[in-house]
Amino acid sequence: MRTDTGQLFRLEDYRPSDYLIPQIHLTFRLARDTTTVVADLTVERRAGTEACAPLVLDGDGLKLKRIELDGYGNPAHEATSGKLVLTNLPEARSFRLLIETELDPDRNKALMGLYRSNGVYCTQCEPEGFRRITYFLDRPDILSVYHVRIEAAKAEAPLLLSNGNPVAGGELGDGWHFAEWHDPHPKPSYLFALVAGDLGCLRDSFTTMSGRTVELAIHVEHGKEKLAAYAMDALKRSMKWDEDAFGREYDLDVFNIVAVSDFNMGAMENKGLNIFNDKYVLADEATATDTDFANIEAIIAHEYFHNWTGNRITCRDWFQLCLKEGLTVFRDHEFSADQRSRGVKRIAEVRTLRALQFPEDQGPLAHPVRPRRYREINNFYTATVYEKGSEVVRMLRTILGAETFRSGMELYFERHDGQACTIEDFLKVFEDASGRDLSQFGLWYNQSGTPNLTIKASYEAGTLTLDIEQSVPPTPSESRKRAMHIPLAFGLIGSDGKETGFTAAEGATVENGVIHVRKRSHKLRFHGVPERPVLSLNRGFSAPVTLAIEQRPEDLAFLVGHDSDPFGRWQAFNTLLTDALIAGYRLLLGGKEANYQKDIAKLAGRIATDATLEPAYRALALTLPSEADIARDIGRDIDPDAVLAARSTLSAFIAAANREPFGKLYEELEDRGPFRPDAASAGRRALRNVVLGYLARLEGGADIAERHYRTATNMTDLIAGLGTLAHEHAGSPRTDAALADFAARHATMPLAMDKWFQIQSTTPGTKALETVRALMRHPAFHIDNPNRVRALLGTFSTGNQTGFHRADGTAYAFFADALLEIDGGNPQLSARLATAFRSWRSLEPARQEKARQALVSIAGANSVSVDLRDIVERSLA
Ligand code: ARG
Ligand code: ZN
Repeated sequence: MRTDTGQLFRLEDYRPSDYLIPQIHLTFRLARDTTTVVADLTVERRAGTEACAPLVLDGDGLKLKRIELDGYGNPAHEATSGKLVLTNLPEARSFRLLIETELDPDRNKALMGLYRSNGVYCTQCEPEGFRRITYFLDRPDILSVYHVRIEAAKAEAPLLLSNGNPVAGGELGDGWHFAEWHDPHPKPSYLFALVAGDLGCLRDSFTTMSGRTVELAIHVEHGKEKLAAYAMDALKRSMKWDEDAFGREYDLDVFNIVAVSDFNMGAMENKGLNIFNDKYVLADEATATDTDFANIEAIIAHEYFHNWTGNRITCRDWFQLCLKEGLTVFRDHEFSADQRSRGVKRIAEVRTLRALQFPEDQGPLAHPVRPRRYREINNFYTATVYEKGSEVVRMLRTILGAETFRSGMELYFERHDGQACTIEDFLKVFEDASGRDLSQFGLWYNQSGTPNLTIKASYEAGTLTLDIEQSVPPTPSESRKRAMHIPLAFGLIGSDGKETGFTAAEGATVENGVIHVRKRSHKLRFHGVPERPVLSLNRGFSAPVTLAIEQRPEDLAFLVGHDSDPFGRWQAFNTLLTDALIAGYRLLLGGKEANYQKDIAKLAGRIATDATLEPAYRALALTLPSEADIARDIGRDIDPDAVLAARSTLSAFIAAANREPFGKLYEELEDRGPFRPDAASAGRRALRNVVLGYLARLEGGADIAERHYRTATNMTDLIAGLGTLAHEHAGSPRTDAALADFAARHATMPLAMDKWFQIQSTTPGTKALETVRALMRHPAFHIDNPNRVRALLGTFSTGNQTGFHRADGTAYAFFADALLEIDGGNPQLSARLATAFRSWRSLEPARQEKARQALVSIAGANSVSVDLRDIVERSLA
């Protein structure tokens, strides 16, 4: 057994580097078996550092071929694959260091550093991949000006790209050529990138607000250029939006995007050369769903926005990751809200936060938005850092107001351009812009766990009293929590459905429709309230908290019809559905049948047919809480089979009560015009497909689903038909025929086959395990490709509650074996997949024990990466 648990890194141990590297000149000679890298560094001793201080450079799996100091060979040094230590350095403050290393990109399956994907050389350096290319001070506070020369065989790699602007290029003889790139903006090593290969290209240009022309290019596999058109459009809209909304202009002559098919994450914001998972670039109606289009728009924007929030202003150390990620997610959320429907977008964001971040915050992997400890930084690219990090920025804007927030952002860009910063720097600009003390607010970055607000309301003689208690639950290594500053947006709604006023409030600061909860308990009194109001609380999800408040079903139904806040309306209906589902679940566990009230079905029918509501909103409202959502709200001792039964029964109940209006709506929403990917068209498709899900529960449902599949003219509808058929009528001959038909039509399209894998791996019930096992041997499945693995195994473990959590524990054991197999090549991927176990303690005891055994078996395996071990050990702790 290997017990390498990796080093523990602690925020408080940060200290600036003794040396700086203001300039680096890199030469790559790319060849299949041996790629050589020559790094010519200008090193500077920091003022105050003693001349005898050694220079310690990071490496990871490197082979040192040559080293020279100021032109002299073999200076005093010690090199291992993981470190290069130089001693007896010159007295002079600055010297040149030349380092030659040798790499084998073809054998790099971890997809970190320089690797080849589908014949294309590409890099991924964030967070610590640059040290797999050359020895370096591989930390984000070392900012260098890069000059890069790439040499390669012209036939293999006609295209040679790096960061910055192209400055030279030409022939070398023997069929070789070269290109040189210069990036004038000093940057950390994690933003370095190189791409070389034979790719097709879609070109365009953008004129910035000061009138400069930027050449835009998206590089994709030959023949797929047209599939980049939507991404290009999204890029131009992002560039314009950042000028309008934040005053940020692009700062190079070119902007390149490359799509690769093997990529660990979504995309990467390398300066001037973004590298993307092809899933987030390629789209047309035949290959991508509306969700894919929306993701492409959001991720193109996200990476582009990093140019200012991440690249021009970067992070001092990796504990500050949320400084760039939380802020940039906030910016891409705002962009999408402006491009699409703000209300609908907000509901979707909250659903994602609750589905991904809440279970993290409420389980063994909980950590603050800015962690203080890590063993493997790759395991901290989490929903907490990204999504909760974005919510924290949103709260800051709510507290300060949009205008003050904007001047704080201006100050941030002005004061910190070109620097590597901390969360303290970020908060300080807002303190300076507003004159407020944000120290209590800063706890949002430092304290983990989802805060809860328990609220009791009473009304008497013109006075509304709210008793508000806040508590932050204990989380790993944090048992006692301090009271947080929680901005709770609210409305008081009168019996006429309009907002009612109040004359005064005491017991907490109330301003601009926001209650500022800052203490553990508040007794808040609103005076001059004309009648008992219905409360709309946490409007727009102003704070990422859970609320415990008794609200009568008739009040919730009233909110569904009257809240002026679209999120509030959605939340009210969602609460009604959740309450009904949990009651049904309890009945089933008690050996009874789940039964539901007519009112809820009626309300569903009313929402579905309310033409004053956007179709996209109606689709979200009518989507029942997922099995995982229900399980999370139940909280403990979960039996996933009973959850599924409760949900299916409610769905069938709503369908039966609305057969006619749903049938009519389904017909009316059919789109006979040409395909358009815009939000309104997507919303109509979404509503029609949700309605299809209900109709498929009724007699004749299989016919409708099959017809839907057969007549679909775009991927969204095709997948909706196939998924409905496969999930509601699993194993039937017509389902099998449709699945075979889809595979035959999309055999050469890996991204479409991912959807086919997903549909089958999420088919509820115990049979799924056998299906997933068999699909791992399908010719379209490749264990080295993260998209394939996530589509089949990732979706199975997170999206199939009854299949993955089958009572006999065999799926856990299967999954543990698969993780170890993946771990041999790609530790980042295996560690990410392993987080599927994070909520194991909320299962009923028998399943808990089986899940625990699977985790223990991974921990005890022969060779486990630091990445996977870190997740498994924290999950078991
Ligand atoms: N910075 C990238 C983003 O835009 C994520 C890259 C993380 N990559 C990784 N291998 N951990 O969010
Ligand atoms: Zn990012």
